[in-house]
Amino acid sequence: MTLTTIHDHRDRARRRLPRYLFDYIEGGAHEEQTLEANVVDLRRIRFRQRVMRDVSQISTRTELFGVPMSMPLVLSPVGLAGMYARRGEAQAARAAQAADVPFCLSSVSVCSIGEVSRAATPPWFQLYMIKDRAYMRELLQHADAQGCAVLVFTVDLPVPAPRHRDVRSGFSAAPGLRRFLKLARDSAAHPAWMWDVLLRGKPHSFGNFAPGIAEASAMKNFGAWVGRNYEQGLSWDDIAWIRSCWKRPIVIKGILDPDDAELAIDAGADGLVVSNHGGRQLDGGPSTISVLPSIAARVAGRVPVLVDGGIRSGPDMLKALALGAQACMIGRAWAYGLAGGGGGGVAHVLELLRKELRTAMALTGCTDVRAAGPDLIASFGGETGPSGPDHAGGR
Ligand SMILES: Cc1cc2nc3c(=O)[nH]c(=O)nc-3n(C[C@H](O)[C@H](O)[C@H](O)COP(=O)(O)O)c2cc1C
Repeated sequence: MTLTTIHDHRDRARRRLPRYLFDYIEGGAHEEQTLEANVVDLRRIRFRQRVMRDVSQISTRTELFGVPMSMPLVLSPVGLAGMYARRGEAQAARAAQAADVPFCLSSVSVCSIGEVSRAATPPWFQLYMIKDRAYMRELLQHADAQGCAVLVFTVDLPVPAPRHRDVRSGFSAAPGLRRFLKLARDSAAHPAWMWDVLLRGKPHSFGNFAPGIAEASAMKNFGAWVGRNYEQGLSWDDIAWIRSCWKRPIVIKGILDPDDAELAIDAGADGLVVSNHGGRQLDGGPSTISVLPSIAARVAGRVPVLVDGGIRSGPDMLKALALGAQACMIGRAWAYGLAGGGGGGVAHVLELLRKELRTAMALTGCTDVRAAGPDLIASFGGETGPSGPDHAGGR
């Protein structure tokens, strides 16, 4: 099949994966209003076309936390990626390294930090805080020793939100024979995936948590152990505890409000990700692109602001950069690439985004991605959200 857009990668992933895994990637919380808003609000934004600006030289290069990269893009942490393709996180990390962009490894990955670090440049590491602090300290020390350059601390999952697709598909239904048969039937209908992942992709455990949490050595009861082990009592004071274990940059992921951005910086964050977890947590919350300008304005360049949610193309990236992000992150886009085509699929997704970003820059007259600003934007479309370039905030 010809793959010309991220949507093509999504279609290929849907055919290749068992339904319960595709729905796990695809779905959001509750009625999926915020999931939809991420995409719709980005699409409503309109660029200004600028012409005759000598776009023969275009630079997409930038840097974050002192690390140079080929374009302002980071692969968001995506859990269970080793179930989408064989040793999926290692494959994706290799593709990211080849494209010269950072790969952020989820806490709940199949491959451990060590396995990914042996396969490619050590990843950024995303942390979900679990209750066992001694194990948390050990894990952070291990991430440091492996060379992870940045810690991404996800703060928008104090409790897991209900994702109805996962209950319907059987993925997070109550354990029992019915569920087992449903998942087995679904898996058996996808023999290429069974051969690649189920048979040749072992072990299927949570590589980072299995050494510390007995239940994490198997995939079953994922939702239940998350509920039992994730720390719900977190507050801004806990950043100081993390800082006592981690000396490199700490990026707080899951900021949607300028007041929280301020508190995160006060608590010592070195960077922020404007994120609603891809619409998988608070349903009815704002799209990320609609709050990005006000957060970027409040941060006013004190720390880098990254954004994810709904980014499916190079033009989407440029919109986010124009509205105040120093870099974008992608979740589903790389997961689709991985599920449909392994590391090669991820590499192709990154190449598509790079080409599309360059084209969008050329057609808006932007020759250096680091200079993208609100002057690239003509309008915000719908009636809600930011209302025009004058309100687009600073970088
Ligand atoms: C299947 C899936 C698993 C995810 N797992 C994690 C995770 O383990 N840790 C985390 O911080 N965010 C996780 N996220 C959220 C992503 O990091 C990111 O915020 C989101 O996918 C961005 O939206 P997008 O998918 O529209 O690009 C996950 C998202 C998806 C789709």
